[in-house]
Amino acid sequence: MSRLDGARSTISMWHEGDYSAHTQGAKDVIDNARGLACEAIAGMAVEGSREPFRIADYGAADGGTSIDLHRATISALRARAPHRAVCITYTDLPRNDYSALFTTVNGGRPGVTSYRDEHDDIFVYAAATSFFEPIFPPGTIDFGFSATAMHWLSALPCPVGDHIHMAGAHGEEREALRARALADWRDILLARASELKPGGRLLTMNLAFADDGRHMGNTGGANMFDVMNHLWRSLVDDGTITASEYRRTTIPQFYRTPAEFHAPLLDPDGPVHRAGLRLVHAETRFTRCPYAARFAEDGDADRFAETYVPNTRTWSETVFVNALDAARPPALRQAIVDRYFESFADLVRSDPEPHAMDYIHECMVMEKWRPEASTKVGS
Ligand SMILES: C[S@@+](CC[C@H](N)C(=O)[O-])C[C@H]1O[C@@H](n2cnc3c(N)ncnc32)[C@H](O)[C@@H]1O
Repeated sequence: MSRLDGARSTISMWHEGDYSAHTQGAKDVIDNARGLACEAIAGMAVEGSREPFRIADYGAADGGTSIDLHRATISALRARAPHRAVCITYTDLPRNDYSALFTTVNGGRPGVTSYRDEHDDIFVYAAATSFFEPIFPPGTIDFGFSATAMHWLSALPCPVGDHIHMAGAHGEEREALRARALADWRDILLARASELKPGGRLLTMNLAFADDGRHMGNTGGANMFDVMNHLWRSLVDDGTITASEYRRTTIPQFYRTPAEFHAPLLDPDGPVHRAGLRLVHAETRFTRCPYAARFAEDGDADRFAETYVPNTRTWSETVFVNALDAARPPALRQAIVDRYFESFADLVRSDPEPHAMDYIHECMVMEKWRPEASTKVGS
């Protein structure tokens, strides 16, 4: 099978920097994790080496949302190891807009200041290899970071027949998706366990199904995925799309529970633990939808609809377009999806109160075991 078959061939964030421009919430999530990242670095032995300090950002999109976190971690590193060069590699899928990424990182995006303007000896690279596989040679990464990316599955074991997302899947379909998600998580961790240097650390912030049942877009008020599903299905009812196109539409994601995230690291007989990866810290975090928060302050329903709906669209649009029959001309497929998101915006404009895309993340700091250190295992 081609490495681009399956779910990986259908997803792509918006290009030309529009992903970052329309996802303030994802940036808030990462900005709020700067302390966690700096603490993770504080727990590493970084002094005394002249080797470059190697950072990887897995599933980085256009690099705009993580730029200030990397600025903070580089500053934290340089405070203790001022002479270490930093090599930072952004990874994503081949369809990602790497041109936008390098524009941002090189200070070419208006309003965005790059860490390269503040620090010397920073070397920036990109790798278009999926995070389900090793991306770097064994033992070469000091600090890995990933935000809001590893909920995307390697492949869909089955479409969700009467919904567009795992949040609305039941029974055997949900269990098949769960099995894929758990196997994917194991593969992700094994690949990172291989890449990390002994004593190297990995900070992941993954969309999660919290213990109280909340998940992104379902934190009270309307369930965003139910709303999106209802509007997409109504296009079957009015004859715009076919029933089989609707059934084919499944966003290839899974929100794991905190226990599912932690399990491979806590099982001493499992492959991840045996590969040397240890859990240092874990916590579930809530991040308010910035567009809903602004609406709560200014009551501007038009502005809310025009910011909140594009935010949902940045990451989901290609799934809807690709679910439509390939025999339809591309312009027609795009027009159908445009109409779909316009109907979403109309709904939000007419009744804004219940809508929000608050985030629920499981944040984890992991460490590659080094024989001379004892590692504290978090909750
Ligand atoms: C929602 S964006 C998050 C971007 C950024 N990390 C942030 O938090 O704003 C998810 C990113 O993960 C990438 N992604 C999904 N599956 C991937 C895979 N198998 N390997 C690498 N990147 C992947 C997507 O292409 C996308 O750029």
